[in-house]
Amino acid sequence: MPILALDQLSKSFGALKVADNVSFALEKGEALGVIGPNGAGKSTLFNLITGNIRVDSGTILFDGSDITWQPPMARCLAGIGRTFQIPQPFRKLTVFENLLVAAAFGSRRPERDVGDRCADILVETGLLSRANQPASSLGLLQRKRLELARALATDPKILLLDEIAGGLTDGECSELVETIRAIHRRGVSIIWVEHVLHALTSVVGRLVVLHFGRVIGVGDPDTIMASREVREIYLGIDV
Ligand SMILES: Nc1ncnc2c1ncn2[C@@H]1O[C@H](COP(=O)(O)OP(=O)(O)OP(=O)(O)O)[C@@H](O)[C@H]1O
Ligand SMILES: [Mg+2]
Repeated sequence: MPILALDQLSKSFGALKVADNVSFALEKGEALGVIGPNGAGKSTLFNLITGNIRVDSGTILFDGSDITWQPPMARCLAGIGRTFQIPQPFRKLTVFENLLVAAAFGSRRPERDVGDRCADILVETGLLSRANQPASSLGLLQRKRLELARALATDPKILLLDEIAGGLTDGECSELVETIRAIHRRGVSIIWVEHVLHALTSVVGRLVVLHFGRVIGVGDPDTIMASREVREIYLGIDV
């Protein structure tokens, strides 16, 4: 049984259809990439999965339950973690305090375990030396790492990553990829929206292509990137 199954999700903002009968499933332990041009509906798809936006129609099954109409908080507690394309930390809190808030309110972990768990996540995400800095003082890579760490603090079964590698140098990007691979190896299922394709395909085994809210391709990265339609639409290459 897949951990997440989307069945015919549709969503419009006025006349603009941002999800058009989107159906695909994420297997337990899988890492899946989502690509598509700007405005294709990638972040909106994450908002539908997390409940930040309600679907117009369709069904979302998570871990065997229908969560289509559950509020975001319930989905977070059930094990859906996400990062935001634009990092959203509590700016005046320290890095460690940001994790404590995420773990205390976003996970089912007993309070006495929260501190130790957050300390482990600081190590896992390379933020230990920043633990006591206010979030507002972090540079881009560390802000991205904090976004990842906050999502991990909610004990996700699936992790939705929204363009976490964007804007980083090559060196920073490969460091972050290593962290994400390690998280995947310890069993967390991942859906990763990303424009930085070499980073994405070094982690995911399958790609979904979105275009104007529609799924126009699903498959292994080599086949997808070789497809004429994808190259024309996504890469803007005249083939
Ligand atoms: N709350 C909203 N109200 C109205 N329109 C919206 C809203 N959120 C997104 N849109 C529009 O829906 C479309 C899809 O937006 P979305 O953010 O999902 O794209 P995206 O694929 O994540 O793009 P990018 O690669 O630039 O992040 C865009 O045209 C956007 O302007
Ligand atoms: Mg987006």
